This record gives sequence, C-alpha cells and structure tokens, in this order.
Amino acid sequence: MNQNDFPRFVLEARSHIKSAWSGIHKIPWNEPGFSRRMLAEHLSQEHDLASRRQKTIDRHVDFIHAEILHGVPSHISDLGCGPGFYMQRLMRLGHRCCGIDFSPASVAYARNLLQCDSASVIEADLLEADFGTGYDLVMLLFGEFNTFTPAEGRLLLNKAVAALAPGGILLLEASRRTALKRADGGNPSWLAAEHGLFSDSPYICLQENRWFEDENAFRSDFFVLQSDGTAQHYASAAQAYSDEEYAGLLLDCGLAEAHFYGDYGKDNPDSDFVVLSGRKEKHTGKPAV
Ligand SMILES: C[S@@+](CC[C@H](N)C(=O)[O-])C[C@H]1O[C@@H](n2cnc3c(N)ncnc32)[C@H](O)[C@@H]1O
Repeated sequence: MNQNDFPRFVLEARSHIKSAWSGIHKIPWNEPGFSRRMLAEHLSQEHDLASRRQKTIDRHVDFIHAEILHGVPSHISDLGCGPGFYMQRLMRLGHRCCGIDFSPASVAYARNLLQCDSASVIEADLLEADFGTGYDLVMLLFGEFNTFTPAEGRLLLNKAVAALAPGGILLLEASRRTALKRADGGNPSWLAAEHGLFSDSPYICLQENRWFEDENAFRSDFFVLQSDGTAQHYASAAQAYSDEEYAGLLLDCGLAEAHFYGDYGKDNPDSDFVVLSGRKEKHTGKPAV
C-alpha cells in the first residue's frame, strides 16, 4: 500500500463498525506471529497484561487449592490456559490438569513446563474443542470469557458444565462492567514502535476505544501501518455483565449455586474482575432452583 492510502484504509474500515461485535472482534492470538509475540508478554514480570505476575498467580492458586478444592486432589480443566502457569502450581499441589488453548507458542511453552503424566495441553479453539468429561473443576480465568459474544459465552459455559463430574465446580474470573467501561479512553491514541505486539518490524498503530451503551460492550480497534507499507485492521471486543447477570448465567446452564469470592478471597471493591463459582448437582441433570 502506498502510505498515502492509509487514511482511506482507516476511514473505510471504521465505516463498517456499527456494533462492538462487527466484523473482526478478536486479535488472532492463534496466528503464529501473534502467538509468539504474545508469549513474551505472558512471561514478562513487568506487567499483568497477558498473564499475571508470578506472585499474584501464587496467591490465586493457593486460594483455588484451599478454598475451592479444600485441598482434595482433583481433576482440573483450565480453559484458555496460556503458558500453563496455573496448571504448573496446581500440579505441584497434587492435582491432575488438562489445559486447552489455541495459541501455538503458549501451548508449546506449557507442554515444556508441565512435562509429567499428571498434565496435558490441547491446542484447540475453545468454541470447537471437546472439553472432555469428569472434571472436579473447570476454570476460565482472567476475563477471557468476556471476549466471546454473548451467544459464544453461553455455549462455552454449557460445554464447561457438561465437562464437570457431578458435584464438580465451574470457576469463572470475569471482567467487571466498570473496568470495561473505564477502558473507553474517549480520545483515539497512537503508538510508534520498533517492534511490538503487532509486528517484529517498525510500525505505527492508531487505536480507538469505544463503549457501546446499547450493547453493554466495549471495543478497541487497531489500525496498523507496517514499515513495508502494508496495513492491517485488528479489533478486540468485550461483553460486560453485572454480578446478577453472571450469577444468572451460571444458574441458567444448570449449576445449583453461584458464590462470589471478591478478588480470590480478598475484599477488593476496586478489582477489575469478579471471581465466582457454581456447582453441578450431584444426582441428576435437574436444573437449579
Ligand atoms: C488473558 S490470557 C490468560 C491465560 C491464562 N489463563 C492466565 O491467566 O495466565 C487468555 C488465553 O486464552 C486463550 N484463548 C483466547 N481465545 C481462545 C479460544 N477461542 N480458544 C482457545 N484459547 C483461547 C489465549 O490464547 C490466551 O492464552
């Protein structure tokens, strides 16, 4: 592309964005280049953008082990497991784990990290993957649930519940509406980088954040101009829910109760995330009351 065409490229792409979920709405974390560059962000101890820093994950895992699983050795499914940091710690505490993620670099890293019989990692898209059965705990953490459309989110929850053994627990860490709404910076921003998430070579990225009040959803658009003259449009959307809606989602997919745990047991009203669980009934597939 001639760089003079970039403004037209941006204007044209913008003209099609009518909804938070218009067209592309997720960064392709499964594409090899993105996956490799994202893994570097997962491993970074400078920020909590892709995975949390190790100390925070230690705290979360201690909470899951003690308060959710009561120290009982369990069979755990980690949906969107990334590089496997939660599974690594849970395995050390005596649990068996299976992770699913569609990022090839993260899956390769996790397989290397977890080399042992009590863990496995499947490279697959959660929307299509077979989640298996018989799990004591299925977890979907760090707000990834919100990056799926409402229909996809319901599909994932139903698949997760079907993968639970009777009495098993679904643990969801989802984004708070206030946090998603706050991310609507208003003004567009730009970035010039030697290399970064969008390329190994120099690029310029224009970013526009928007909150869609009628859809209760947030969306960021990224318009990238590469040093070779190519341009790309990426986007990332997130659906917001209230606490009542989260609880309702768990009950609707047949779980018998919804418990909220603040910030993994810590009272932290400013947290960007809400942690909640639901239990699958022991006896029948009877819906919750
Ligand atoms: C925010 S990261 C969190 C990783 C890990 N749970 C953690 O907290 O360290 C979200 C992960 O979900 C994965 N993911 C997102 N959408 C997915 C999909 N449709 N299928 C499989 N994995 C997906 C990404 O590749 C990424 O590794």
